[in-house]
Amino acid sequence: MDKLIIRGGRKLRGEVAISGAKNAALPIMAASLLASGESIIRRVPHLRDIMTMGRLLAHLGAGFHYERSKALISTERINVFEAPYDLVRTMRASILVLGPLLAKFGRAKVSLPGGCAIGARPINLHLMGLEKLGAEVKLEAGYVVARTRRLKGAAIYFDTPTVTGTENLMMAATLAKGTTVLENAAREPEVVDLADALATMGARIRGAGESVVEIEGVNELKPLEHSIIPDRIEAGTFMTVAGITGGDIVLKECRMDHLDAVVMKLGEAGLQFHGGEGGVRVIGPARPKSTNVKTIPYPGFPTDMQAQFMALMAVAEGTSIVKETVFENRFMHVAELVRMGADITVEGGIATVKGVGRLHGAPLMATDLRASASLVVAALAAKGETEIRRIYHLDRGYEMIEEKLRMIGADVRRVKDE
Ligand code: EPU
Repeated sequence: MDKLIIRGGRKLRGEVAISGAKNAALPIMAASLLASGESIIRRVPHLRDIMTMGRLLAHLGAGFHYERSKALISTERINVFEAPYDLVRTMRASILVLGPLLAKFGRAKVSLPGGCAIGARPINLHLMGLEKLGAEVKLEAGYVVARTRRLKGAAIYFDTPTVTGTENLMMAATLAKGTTVLENAAREPEVVDLADALATMGARIRGAGESVVEIEGVNELKPLEHSIIPDRIEAGTFMTVAGITGGDIVLKECRMDHLDAVVMKLGEAGLQFHGGEGGVRVIGPARPKSTNVKTIPYPGFPTDMQAQFMALMAVAEGTSIVKETVFENRFMHVAELVRMGADITVEGGIATVKGVGRLHGAPLMATDLRASASLVVAALAAKGETEIRRIYHLDRGYEMIEEKLRMIGADVRRVKDE
């Protein structure tokens, strides 16, 4: 297992190229199952989760080849319809093969993901939707077992907008007989990117990115060819890096239109943004100002940016209230930030962050992907050395994180943790 050693306190300056979005690439890789033939996906980040999805597709019988951000997936020989527990437990997004397998092959068996570090994370809405489409869905010995002759279009309402639930049902509905309407669908840019990729396969989808999505089923789809959108959460994370180090960072390949809420909140905290041909220039203040934030589904402030934002607020002038409404247990970073000298208390889904002048380095433990990112952000501004253990969490979602940080002047090392 690796750990990161970060010596904080430098003002970071320079350019960072943002990678393709993990959470767009994963469903689009799963979508390749809807057709027979070779799909081509570009700008796929080299991440642990991407390789896990590749392994899962290979387990189902697909050819998976990845080289220099390009993934080639051939699906002529799919002959296994089961996502086993060992793969699903390392990556919840494995559930994304459920909709495509069922729609294309009429059967699927996927291990139930179970809870994780950020909450219970049920999949009841995925299953409810598939049943509405006419599938027979059973739970057997920890697995979801689903069958159908052919899915049939239906009207589906989500009690809560779910990102992967919307994606699973959108994929399933592309091959259903008739029209499906998803109400209160998730509006995240990754859902839109999936719809764009599905359109290259011949799928008929209207309204992706809005809360009502209409899918007119077709009999057959062809392999997809698509280039993944830039990762808005990686971009937002580097924005907080500029903010906490008083840095001056140019983000290349950054879609500012996907980051409205994040940019507004960081603007309140004192960061400046200048858009231009070469990218987005982000300038951090001498000291950030306190700002309240509440996570809500897109276009609201993303839960995936909450931990990194809290690291910034930990050193801000004044007190900030950070409210998490998407996941019930997404404050795992708090205890670690407190070990660095932060003054944060949590009650219910609300964290009260009293800004301290400076954090100090400490030995820390990464717990989940975005919590780990927040510890990196905090460490970059802390006095002295911080050691972050279990950074395999970070490797699930940040491509070449230490190389990118080093390029802008950070003192970061990856070493083997004995
Ligand atoms: N929910 C249900 N029932 C369901 C599905 C979801 O109650 O059947 C609830 C969840 O418990 C949660 C809320 O709905 O309270 C929203 O969860 P959602 O389903 O949208 O989350 P997800 O699809 O499992 C994706 C991202 C997450 C990101 C969330 C929220 C992928 C692969 N994962 O998860 O990304 O936090 O949306 O935006 O797209 C990450 O990248 O670090 C990450 C955790």
